Amino acid sequence: MRLTQDQIDTFNREGWLLLPELFTPEEVNLLRHEALEIYKEHRPEVWREKNGAPRTAFAAHTYNEAFRLLGAHPRMIEPIEQVFGEKLYMHQYKINAKSAFTGEVWQWHQDYGTWKRDDGMLQPRAMNISVFLDEVMPINGPLMLVPRSHNAGDLKASHDLQTTSYPLWTLDEETVTRLVREGGIVAPTGKPGSMLMFHGNLVHGSAGNITPYPRKIVYLTLNAVSNYIRTPTRPDFIAHRDFTPIETVDDDALVRLARAHRQAAE
Ligand code: SIN
Ligand code: MN
Repeated sequence: MRLTQDQIDTFNREGWLLLPELFTPEEVNLLRHEALEIYKEHRPEVWREKNGAPRTAFAAHTYNEAFRLLGAHPRMIEPIEQVFGEKLYMHQYKINAKSAFTGEVWQWHQDYGTWKRDDGMLQPRAMNISVFLDEVMPINGPLMLVPRSHNAGDLKASHDLQTTSYPLWTLDEETVTRLVREGGIVAPTGKPGSMLMFHGNLVHGSAGNITPYPRKIVYLTLNAVSNYIRTPTRPDFIAHRDFTPIETVDDDALVRLARAHRQAAE
């Protein structure tokens, strides 16, 4: 799958791009079901909120077949190869739960801030792409983006080890206020299966979810192979050390797995 020149121009200008309903209900239902199974597991890759609800599951492509296929899916890999003009490897993979009633805040941050400081990534040549597993609504803690903030470069940040269960290099209120004055805030919403890509320096965050509607989103961070991380400090399941270029699977791979699961259940 290739992006149009218009889509590439929009991405370069705004720092993000939404492709509505890129994955079908059959494909997303499989992924949603598998995510719920993973959250039940007690393993080091599954992190919980301070209240015990699942917050994120790391590295699911290494222990779950459906998420392995998603991580090598041509609808996700090809557009990013097109943007960077080279092969990619998986830097990070997480399924964020933002559970009904209990999902907690993600403070304002740039992802490249963490990749650089904690992982030794040379340049912001890694892309975040996310697939909505539930409907993302204005009310259930959507991801909020500050358009055009990717042009601000790598901003001063401080290491927040307190507010949530996840350590993050976060931005101060003055910086966020200045960037929002220039670019505003958008919160892309959409049906399950929609795909959002955003630049590693784009400022983003999300509020808590106090609604009965869960908001699960899968985030892949695809890094250009030449930009592999030099001085990782985080565990391997958070910042991967396998820099093997991703080879894509067939476009119908998820549909075939969904059908195989259904047949096995009959
Ligand atoms: C992130 O910024 O990595 C996650 C934010 C979210 O899931 O709302
Ligand atoms: Mn982030």
